[in-house]
Amino acid sequence: MSTDWEGLYQKGDTGWDKGEAAPGLVDFLAARPELPRGTVLIPGCGRGHDVRAWAGCGFDATGFDLAPSAVRESNERIAKEGLTPKARVLRGNFLDDAPITQFDWIFEHTLYCAIQPTQRDAYAVAAARWLKPGGQFLAIHYLIPDTEGPPFGCTRDEVVRRFETRFELLGEWTPRSYPNRTNLELALWWKRR
Ligand SMILES: C[S@@+](CC[C@H](N)C(=O)[O-])C[C@H]1O[C@@H](n2cnc3c(N)ncnc32)[C@H](O)[C@@H]1O
Repeated sequence: MSTDWEGLYQKGDTGWDKGEAAPGLVDFLAARPELPRGTVLIPGCGRGHDVRAWAGCGFDATGFDLAPSAVRESNERIAKEGLTPKARVLRGNFLDDAPITQFDWIFEHTLYCAIQPTQRDAYAVAAARWLKPGGQFLAIHYLIPDTEGPPFGCTRDEVVRRFETRFELLGEWTPRSYPNRTNLELALWWKRR
């Protein structure tokens, strides 16, 4: 059954939204000031906290989300924080849409666990399609056992198996997390083959 994301935003039923960027992303960017400042796509970006974190560090950041309310709220916050034109959020379907361009980076945070597990192969195909050859894919996964979602749980081995044919694994670690996700997240840093 598909999730009515727009309905959840309209009801304010957005418990996944912690009002700030993923702590693991904040640490990743702070620790690597030498990374070339390229383009980054954040699919399923919600209210855009991660989009603003990338843009605030000098990347050209594009969020992409299905829900019109998320897109509108994201762009209002981007404007309020003076991050235009380094950041923007567009409405669309990451799994189905043709890429508007190919990006240097993709950042995954709580989209993989939000889609139906049957859509995960389509996610891996889409990630390769939206990235430049040699582009980098940074993902923070939620390692919970839940089969009734969203969020739908995953394991490290399931995720690695799904991406390793198209991506080379550069690194993995347990990131700093929001308090209720401590030690439940896994960061995987990939390069598109
Ligand atoms: C669990 S929320 C996470 C939002 C954000 N990443 C965060 O952590 O606050 C999942 C988001 O993905 C969006 N979404 C779901 N399926 C999508 C798809 N196929 N393409 C783009 N966005 C999608 C939803 O509208 C929702 O905003």
